[in-house]
Amino acid sequence: MPSVTDRYDPLDAQVLNDPYPVLAELRASEPVFWHQGMASWALTRYADCVRVLRDHDTFARDPRRTGGTVPEPSLSVQTLDPPQQSRIRSLFMAALRAQDLDGIEARARRLVRARLDALVGAGPFDMVSEIAVPLSVAVVADLLGVEPPPYTEFAAVSDAIMRSMDGGLDPSLVEPGRIARQRLSDLVDSWFTAAPRPGLLAQVRAAEPGVDALARLYVKNTARVMFQGGYSTMAAAVGNAVAVLLARPQALEEMRDPALLATGVDELVRFDGPVQGTTRVTVRSCRIGGVEIGPGQKVVPLFAAANRDPDAFHGADALVLDRSPNRHLGYGWSPHSCIGTTVAQAGLRALVTVLAEHPARLVAAGEGLRRRTATMRAFATLPALLLL
Ligand code: HEM
Repeated sequence: MPSVTDRYDPLDAQVLNDPYPVLAELRASEPVFWHQGMASWALTRYADCVRVLRDHDTFARDPRRTGGTVPEPSLSVQTLDPPQQSRIRSLFMAALRAQDLDGIEARARRLVRARLDALVGAGPFDMVSEIAVPLSVAVVADLLGVEPPPYTEFAAVSDAIMRSMDGGLDPSLVEPGRIARQRLSDLVDSWFTAAPRPGLLAQVRAAEPGVDALARLYVKNTARVMFQGGYSTMAAAVGNAVAVLLARPQALEEMRDPALLATGVDELVRFDGPVQGTTRVTVRSCRIGGVEIGPGQKVVPLFAAANRDPDAFHGADALVLDRSPNRHLGYGWSPHSCIGTTVAQAGLRALVTVLAEHPARLVAAGEGLRRRTATMRAFATLPALLLL
């Protein structure tokens, strides 16, 4: 029988369906292991993952620090490292803090409520296309202060970009990905030439005279990452959260309590969040969990495994709505942690509030279909029904 490390395939149907048993086995048997398919050292313990995410001197995000290259359109807050990254990150964080998150949450609630109202009595529908996609596009567009692009069209562009990340395995995905990236760039360019509307982008643009041409490129690229990355991660999080709540109607009922709503939306991201892991590259030799790792090696902290580590979370495999503190890695950690955390939390609160309060009861209408993607855990479709 091959060892668990050899058996671990993130794209295996069983793993896509429920990755947690195999991740637990890996954490118990070989918490730091070489994964041939990912050509990386994979980490499953919370403490090891946090250490890598914190120590950006040793573990680089920016491929140029380890002899790699980054195409210009990809230079953003996500690919740069401190200290270069810090200025752009602060600019976006400050602009986000200045936005009216209560207003964004209230508008998100109205959108979910209107869509659910329209779906009552309409038979089975897909939660991904009917709720997760529109809610996520609307929330990020509202935050940035831009006109939301047509939902279905934008979802297709974003999907083509996501799928092209597997282009090494299937070259036919590369060209559609390139076309989609160009369309997204054109959309973002149009925001920077149009008259500013109130929102995060206007705030960032107002600060622009103070930044040089290279920084302006970083700003535009970061706006693109916020829109497309924020949308796709949020849509995946919404699908995962809904599936968890469909299986636990009692939890949805309990989240009518505002205190449980606040902690509960965070627990949903710990329990079954969308981002399964991330990659860093070692700048120098180091030891992790007793394993010697040379320079220039890829290291993959597996958030999904860390978030179920019993050494970090009591009752790690249970959904504990009032878990506090809850220092999970669902939004990452340290200099590359999620910039959009507070807006994602607002969007998830809006979703759960409306689902819990709606006069019709949401029930599953068949099995959901998982996307065949390793880094992002998401549903392609999630059939549901509203019963009065
Ligand atoms: C529930 C929804 C979301 C989850 C679970 C999530 C999760 C994450 C995670 C895990 C990272 C770190 C990845 C790494 O270290 O490689 C990240 C980064 C990021 N997220 Fe989110 N995200 C969500 C929603 C959003 C939204 C709505 C936005 C924007 C409006 C956003 C913007 C960003 C940006 C810009 C980064 C890159 C930060 C950096 O590298 O400095 N995210 N997110």
